[in-house]
Amino acid sequence: MNSWDELLSPYKQAVEELKVKLKGVREQYQKSSNHTPIEFVTGRVKPVSSILNKAARKKISFDHLEQEIQDLAGVRIVTQFVEDIETVVELIRKRTDFEILEERDYIIEQKPSGYRSYHLIIWYPVQTIQGEKKIQVELQVRTLSMNFWATIEHSLRYKYSGEIPDEIGRRLIRASEAAFKLDEEMSIIRDEVREAQELLMAKRHQQDIN
Ligand code: GTP
Ligand code: MG
Repeated sequence: MNSWDELLSPYKQAVEELKVKLKGVREQYQKSSNHTPIEFVTGRVKPVSSILNKAARKKISFDHLEQEIQDLAGVRIVTQFVEDIETVVELIRKRTDFEILEERDYIIEQKPSGYRSYHLIIWYPVQTIQGEKKIQVELQVRTLSMNFWATIEHSLRYKYSGEIPDEIGRRLIRASEAAFKLDEEMSIIRDEVREAQELLMAKRHQQDIN
């Protein structure tokens, strides 16, 4: 194993475990025919090239990578409605298999770019053959609409190597306002949508039993 593989292997482990656990939560909700606050879960270990970029940008030495880069492991939980975010965060707060190190609410206070999401940094214990190792994992909780915006903005940021032209930046802020509006509109018809989804879910469940 090279030193990167060695360094990142507990992070990979943590991402895989958290994905399984959160998908388990989603399944429990689905089985109960309740509206599930989790639409889907994704996760990744930061690619070495991005780690090197970030370390150079923030002047972090190799010895301090694990302390200073909080998103070596990242898990994203995507919801349908804004209200689901609070449900997911509450669920995360109640868990006993890890500790919360910090929370950042970029929904109440969105970033100047227009970015919105709820972030938690957790201390996640990974069982290794050398014993337990606690690592930081970044959890991002956001709606489908916030996720759509962030995905598009991220690819533009990549295309322009971080220097998005002003005109496009302004359009992105308008798009972010539109995404916010979409979340608001969906919230208003939420009860209606949830009822419809629960009916569908119950019907499928019934078909599974018969
Ligand atoms: P970095 O932004 O990662 O350098 O670290 P930080 O300590 O400033 O953390 P922050 O909470 O600002 O951002 C953490 C992560 O949130 C980033 O790695 C991105 O995945 C996401 N994020 C933050 N701001 C933006 C943004 O303006 N656009 C997009 N698309 N994602 C963002
Ligand atoms: Mg940042």
